[in-house]
Amino acid sequence: MSVTTSSVSSLASLDTPLLAVPVFASNDAAARSDAGPGAALLPGALPEALANALRAARGDLRANTGAATVVWASEGVEGPQRLVFIGVGKPEKECGAEDIRRLAGHAVRQAEGRRQSAVALLVPTLGDGAEVAGQSAAEGAVLAAWRFRELKTGAGETEPPTAVTDITLVGDGADFEAGVAAGTITGESENLARSLQSRPGNVATPTHLADVAEGIGHGLEVDILGPDRLKEERMGALLAVAQGSDEEPRLIVMKHMGGSDDEKPLVLVGKGLTFDAGGISLKPPKGMEDMRFDMSGGAGVIGAMAAIARLGVKRNVIGIVPSSENLLGGRAVKPGDVVTTRSGKTVEIINTDAEGRLILCDSLDYALQFEPDAMIDCATLTGAVVIGLGSHAIGLLGTDQALIDEVKAAGERSGERCWQLPLWEEYRKQLDTPQSDLQNVGGRPAGTITAAWFLREFVKETKWAHLDVAGTAYGDGTKASYLRKGGYGVPTRLLVDWVRSRA
Ligand code: BES
Ligand code: MN
Ligand code: ZN
Repeated sequence: MSVTTSSVSSLASLDTPLLAVPVFASNDAAARSDAGPGAALLPGALPEALANALRAARGDLRANTGAATVVWASEGVEGPQRLVFIGVGKPEKECGAEDIRRLAGHAVRQAEGRRQSAVALLVPTLGDGAEVAGQSAAEGAVLAAWRFRELKTGAGETEPPTAVTDITLVGDGADFEAGVAAGTITGESENLARSLQSRPGNVATPTHLADVAEGIGHGLEVDILGPDRLKEERMGALLAVAQGSDEEPRLIVMKHMGGSDDEKPLVLVGKGLTFDAGGISLKPPKGMEDMRFDMSGGAGVIGAMAAIARLGVKRNVIGIVPSSENLLGGRAVKPGDVVTTRSGKTVEIINTDAEGRLILCDSLDYALQFEPDAMIDCATLTGAVVIGLGSHAIGLLGTDQALIDEVKAAGERSGERCWQLPLWEEYRKQLDTPQSDLQNVGGRPAGTITAAWFLREFVKETKWAHLDVAGTAYGDGTKASYLRKGGYGVPTRLLVDWVRSRA
């Protein structure tokens, strides 16, 4: 895929089959049928034939989100072959980064629908400035153009949909160019996460995730711990989850040393459970195939580390992904078993389906040796967060309110929004058990909070935030124009944004 930029003044000679132009809603009733400022700017810069056609079509333009009106140029005229006016849904001054991502998503979908592999977009510069506009447009377009067709042979398909491979973003200035460059990298890295998510359990095994992490390059130092080293590290909780499967577990450690030697790192930890059958506490069959997405947090961390390395962020950042299957082989951990975690704390495993916190607790403890400046973990951890927040908000909890506020702000900017839940002391006692230091489930009430409390037991004094992405990491694709059914790559953009905000 190629993403290039072009200046507004050269629009008239831009050789593209399709130029997308935003149409904003207007607060002013008299102006409501007019195109927004983006379109108003066009006629002068366009070839006469196209400008005339546009003037004639003006009354047809609609500003509601995604509404599209096409205007054709006469044959043989230099410049865009057609314009597609796309409704943004709001007045220009109310639009933000997420509106631009979605606009870019609609532009790519328009190209696909017209069997065009190339599309150009006139990018509006909103209140957030040209850099944010360029970044958001690139993210939206790159995310929208991604498709997962690795496992399709093409057999039986008469007309495969056209892939959009050539994106031109029209805007001016160095800030815009820098934004497009960064947004292309975050978009591509989030697409890496989506591809990992989409690969089924028999393809995206723990070994596969480790191989992909090792292949990223861009100066990332990658260390992979297999069963022997996990035993040496006494990671009894991770090993307990893995022992029900013939597939070997991995702990993937990725280091980006972009800061000074003595700078304490930011640490990102992601749950890389490549298939969650529930273990002996077996899940019901309906929808179980979605549990291939239970490595979404890990995919997000791998995607984020790829972006951080490619962007050359001037900060030390360590990404850690514990990866395992959760199956029910003859050696599988059983309800009632007590395991000793890396930290020394003992855990009674009441429900083998609460495995995410088990593989994470040893990883959080492992991370403490790096003395993190701050640590964020992300995981498809609880069904309860799906009930509580649905698909529009990541569950956010943690030990440090300032860090939580930073993460929340990063979520707003990146369009991967979070909502905080309380981690009050009162909830801790739900993990009490006479058998051991704590049990791995806290009952039905406040399931997301007790899961976070379990993790909190292992982070000691570290400034730590936890993202429960079970409701937001994948879906049917209807949430935004730039998404498709399957993995959403969440929270890659949020993590990259947060790390960059700390650089
Ligand atoms: N991977 C699941 C959580 C999940 C549920 C992710 C739905 C995506 C969609 C996790 O391992 C799990 O099974 N959690 C249990 C915990 C319970 C046994 C305390 C849950 O939420 O039901
Ligand atoms: Mn589970
Ligand atoms: Zn799980």
